[in-house]
Amino acid sequence: MSAPDRLLLRGLRPLGGIPVDLLIVGGRIAEIGSRIDTLGARTIDCDGLIALPGLVDLHTHLREPGGEHAETVRTGARAAAAGGYAAVIAMANTDPVADTPEVAEAVRRAAAMADCAVFPAGAVTRGLAGTELSDIPGLARAGVRVFSDDGRCVHDSKVMRDALHAIGAVGGTLAQHAEDHALTADAQVNDGPVATATGLPGWPAEAEDSIIARDCVLAAAAGTALHVCHVSTAGAVEVLRWAKHRGWPVTAEVTPHHLLLTEEEALSGDPVFKVNPPLRRVEDVMALRAALADGTIDAVATDHAPHAGSDKSPPWCGARPGMLGLETALAVVAELFVRSGQLDWAGVADRMSVRPARIARLSARFGRPLERGEPATLTLVSAGRWQVDPAASHSLSRNTPVAGRVFGHRPVLTVLEGRVTHDLLDRDAWQQYSIS
Ligand code: DOR
Ligand code: ZN
Repeated sequence: MSAPDRLLLRGLRPLGGIPVDLLIVGGRIAEIGSRIDTLGARTIDCDGLIALPGLVDLHTHLREPGGEHAETVRTGARAAAAGGYAAVIAMANTDPVADTPEVAEAVRRAAAMADCAVFPAGAVTRGLAGTELSDIPGLARAGVRVFSDDGRCVHDSKVMRDALHAIGAVGGTLAQHAEDHALTADAQVNDGPVATATGLPGWPAEAEDSIIARDCVLAAAAGTALHVCHVSTAGAVEVLRWAKHRGWPVTAEVTPHHLLLTEEEALSGDPVFKVNPPLRRVEDVMALRAALADGTIDAVATDHAPHAGSDKSPPWCGARPGMLGLETALAVVAELFVRSGQLDWAGVADRMSVRPARIARLSARFGRPLERGEPATLTLVSAGRWQVDPAASHSLSRNTPVAGRVFGHRPVLTVLEGRVTHDLLDRDAWQQYSIS
C-alpha cells in the first residue's frame, strides 16, 4: 500500500489513553493533539482505537530461502503486518542457512517493499552444526545484529563461549535456543503425565533450564548480551530471575502459545500442538505469565513457524514442530494480560515493541514513543469479538494452534513509517470476521 503525503488519524487513543488526532507527514509524526486541521490530508477515522508503537517480533521463521512452499519473506511480512507488526527478525534456519552475508543480503533484498521491515538473524555456527563459528564479522558488516542457531542449541560450552566473544565484539546479541539435545533425543511432549498417558518420549524441563543457567554464566563472563528464546518452564524463570538480579546481560522472550496452552493439548494427538520446546504444565504457564507481567521475561516473541500441511499431519512423531503466531499474538496477549489487569496497554507496548526493539538493536527506528518528530510506525487495535479462521490467514501455512478461538482485540491498522501496511478499516473485512 502506498504512503500518502499527509495522513490524519482521527480519534485514536495512544496506549489506551485519551483520544487525540495524529498527523503523519513524510513518514513521521508531524503533530499529535486534539482537533488537528485536516487540510489536504487523507483522513482515517480511528474513533476509540488503541494506538501502540508498531510491534516488533524477535523470532519469526520466514522459510525463504529453501522452504517457500511453507512461507516466503513477502507472505510472512504480510502476515506480520496483519498481526500489527512493523518489524520482524527472520530466523537463520533456512536452506541454505543464513551463515554468510550473501544469504542475509538475499533475505533483505526479498524484503524490499514488503509489508513489514525484515531483519535477518545470522547463524551462530556454520550450517547450525554447533562446531565452527559462522562469518560473524561478515554478517555484522551486512547489518546483522541478532545471531541465533534457533531450532538447534549451541551445545558445546567452548563454542558458546567463543561465539559470545565474537558476537560481543561486533555489538550483537546471541539468541539461544536452550535445549540440551543429549536429554531430548526423540522427545515428543513435555516429560510428565501427558508423556505417561500417551506413551510418547518425554521432554524434561531440565534440558532447557540447565542450558539457560550455563549460558547466563558464560554471558556474564564474556560481557555479551544473551537473549533466551521461547522460555517455557517455571525453572527457567527462576534462573532468569537469579541472573537478572546479579545484573547480568540477559534478556528473554516467551511465545503466545506457551503463555496460553498447556501440555494437555497433546492428548488430542493433533500435531498442530507439537512444538519445540513443548507445551508445558499449567504451573509453568502460570510462572511464565507472572514473569512477563513483572518483566523478568522481557518480550513476547511469536516463534511463527509455518509448516506445510503434509509436514503437520499425523502421526505425531513424524510431524515437524512449530506453530503460526504473527496474526494472533496481540490478541492472545490482550486476552491474557489486559483483561486480567496484569498489563496495561503501556505494558503491552513495552513487551511487544519497546523491549524487543532494544534487544534487536533497532531502538533508533522501532519501539519509539508516539510523539511528534518520531517515525510514524504504529499499530491500531480494535476491541471487538472476532474468531480465528485459518483459511483467512495471510501465511502460506495453516498451522495455527488457535483455530476457531474467539478473541476480544485485533490489530486493524498497521502503519510503517507513514505507509499503511494493513487496513481492516477501509473494507468490510472487519465486519466479515467480527462476531457479536
Ligand atoms: O517449534 C519450533 N519450530 N521450534 C523451533 O525452535 C524451530 C521452529 C521451526 O523452525 O519450525
Ligand atoms: Zn527455537
